[in-house]
Amino acid sequence: MSAAEIGVIGLGTMGAMIALNIADNGFRVAVHNRTASRIPEFMAQAGDLAERVSGHAELSDFVAALAKPRNIILMVPAGEAVDAQIAQLRPLLDSDDMIIDAGNANFHDTQRRAQDAEADGVPFLGIGVSGGAEGARFGPSIMGGGTSAAWGRVAHILEAISAKYEGTACATYMGAGGAGHFVKTVHNGIEYADMQLIAEAYGVMRDGMGMDAAACGGVFDRWNEGPLQSYLIEISGKVSAATDTETGQPMLDVILDRAGQKGTGRWTVIESQMLGTPVPVIEAAVVARNMSAARDLRLSGAAAFGDHAKTIGQDALTLDDLERALIAGKILCYAQGFDLLDKASADYGWALPMADIARVWREGCIIRSAMLNDMASALADTPGQNLALAPYFQNVIIKNVDGLRKVATVAMAAGHPVPALASALNYFDTLTSARTTANMLQAQRDYFGAHSFERTDRDGAHYGPWLDQHLQG
Ligand code: 6PG
Repeated sequence: MSAAEIGVIGLGTMGAMIALNIADNGFRVAVHNRTASRIPEFMAQAGDLAERVSGHAELSDFVAALAKPRNIILMVPAGEAVDAQIAQLRPLLDSDDMIIDAGNANFHDTQRRAQDAEADGVPFLGIGVSGGAEGARFGPSIMGGGTSAAWGRVAHILEAISAKYEGTACATYMGAGGAGHFVKTVHNGIEYADMQLIAEAYGVMRDGMGMDAAACGGVFDRWNEGPLQSYLIEISGKVSAATDTETGQPMLDVILDRAGQKGTGRWTVIESQMLGTPVPVIEAAVVARNMSAARDLRLSGAAAFGDHAKTIGQDALTLDDLERALIAGKILCYAQGFDLLDKASADYGWALPMADIARVWREGCIIRSAMLNDMASALADTPGQNLALAPYFQNVIIKNVDGLRKVATVAMAAGHPVPALASALNYFDTLTSARTTANMLQAQRDYFGAHSFERTDRDGAHYGPWLDQHLQG
């Protein structure tokens, strides 16, 4: 085989699928894996595509197989493994050879690696890749970060392998350094929230309305024909309909209610706190996963307090209310995510292309949905504005927020936890409050710490009448 146009290191599920996708799009690709026995296995998996793939057990042979200047994708576990791989690889490379980290990196690591690369005068890209194994194989959504020159060098390959939305490639340059991985992190935060909102709707149907998994699946299938059309609603329908081959039970009913996480949702929340831009629905989703994981504690709680949840009758809540709750909750959650992106863009000096972020998520990624096309239009029409306040989404919220209010209040009154839905409603009610209760907080702060406050009737820093009194005893 003549020199490969690109290399892939790491033949785990995602790396293997990306390498096959690259070969499938007509590019020659060299691959390497730390555990060498995986390489012949992968070559066999490649089938006919193997003619465009060369496998190399030795890193030096892998490097030698690549056309210069070299472009090398790393698909190794995020964190130390990436630094170790870069340290091993760099001495074998020329100064114009480029390393592309395509894992789920913490964007702070990507910022640091980009700075190191710049100081060393070598090109580096950090790209967020979404879509799971199937997306990686047949078209993921790709969010790029680094210099625009570095992106330009491999854009034709990344665009070719990416998902297409009505012919447009879902591969976009987001900005310098860790911009691509930051956008991917927020994507995952939204993914956590979207999943949690759906899980709560399922909980209301299962525990409140007494519906079995198949019936819930039918509802998801129906919702997937309307405004909620999305990959996550679609797969919720599919998993609800599936049967466990071992027991014949609905598959959902034999899956333990303890959720895992690799941390990207948590990172979104941490960054939102650091930037002072709240993402409460995402936060509720991360907390819900943590609470799910604390199963022993929940079992003790259930034993101590007994089952207090009540049935919810069709007269109290309808499936239409639930659908409308999810529509409003979803918009409010995305509004938070885009606000966070906007703030990060300003603080990190990225100039993130907000409408293009919504566009790149329309196909290939886990949160792909019909609504993202409307979000892209709204973000383009009213840049810098909270998505919930964009005229189109204002109207959608007006039509649906009473469904959210009804579901959150009825579910809570009946004792069913709906933390993400309730959080979305609280966000809406706070977002639309001209007057909050923070005047009380300011008074308290001033009372115990002389922190001062602003007045409603004139500028400046002011103090309350309490300072002299209580400090002098
Ligand atoms: C994607 C997914 C993918 C993965 C995450 C989330 O966009 O393709 O987000 O990156 O599923 O690692 O996993 P956790 O739920 O384990 O955090």
